Amino acid sequence: MLDELKNANEYIIDKIVETDSLILEMEAFALEYNVPIVTKEVAKYLEFLVSSHNFKNILEIGTAIGYSGTIMGKIAKKNGGKLTTIEIDETRYNQAFENFKKANLLDSVNLILGDGVEEVKKLNEKFDFIFIDASKGHYMEFFNDSFERLEENGIIFIDNIMFRGYLYKEYPKRFKTIVRRLDEFISYLYQNHDFVLLPFGDGIGLVKK
Ligand SMILES: C[S@@+](CC[C@H](N)C(=O)[O-])C[C@H]1O[C@@H](n2cnc3c(N)ncnc32)[C@H](O)[C@@H]1O
Repeated sequence: MLDELKNANEYIIDKIVETDSLILEMEAFALEYNVPIVTKEVAKYLEFLVSSHNFKNILEIGTAIGYSGTIMGKIAKKNGGKLTTIEIDETRYNQAFENFKKANLLDSVNLILGDGVEEVKKLNEKFDFIFIDASKGHYMEFFNDSFERLEENGIIFIDNIMFRGYLYKEYPKRFKTIVRRLDEFISYLYQNHDFVLLPFGDGIGLVKK
């Protein structure tokens, strides 16, 4: 099953032809310096979802170099809104700043250097789309704080929720706690929220308020 999904993902990735030079530059940088960014098929889905709902006020937890942020930020700006994005690592924060500058998004991006666990709690605004893509051990906490700040009919998008397939296949023992937490998190979401789990990319969770 996992192999079949892997092949489907590979097929989709092969079909995607990217022409945006900054996006291509960021993809090459991420590959060269081993920066984890959303995979191409997930990036396309993210773009599709954000643009088809005309989301304006977007929150991202886990900026990295601003790859997914640039994709979402462009749509938010076009819709007269903004992207708020939080990154804990100063080097990546600085790289993201440069990329948002190149994308001409500095006027519509609120780039925050800090720990999402603390920074989300400080935000006094509501968002119509929230993308959670940071430390998996904190997903429940990110989710609870994000959900409070989500508009009615808003969507929370959680990436890598199936953690390399480790939730349903053999995994290195050092990941025991994180696998248990993600598994409990998925059960919690199914039982308490309007939630779907998509076996796409590395597993995508979508919650609607
Ligand atoms: C998977 S990457 C994000 C990729 C990015 N969303 C993209 O697709 O372009 C995860 C990022 O989250 C950051 N991070 C990890 N824990 C965090 C936390 N507690 N608060 C904020 N950022 C965090 C990491 O430094 C890393 O850059």
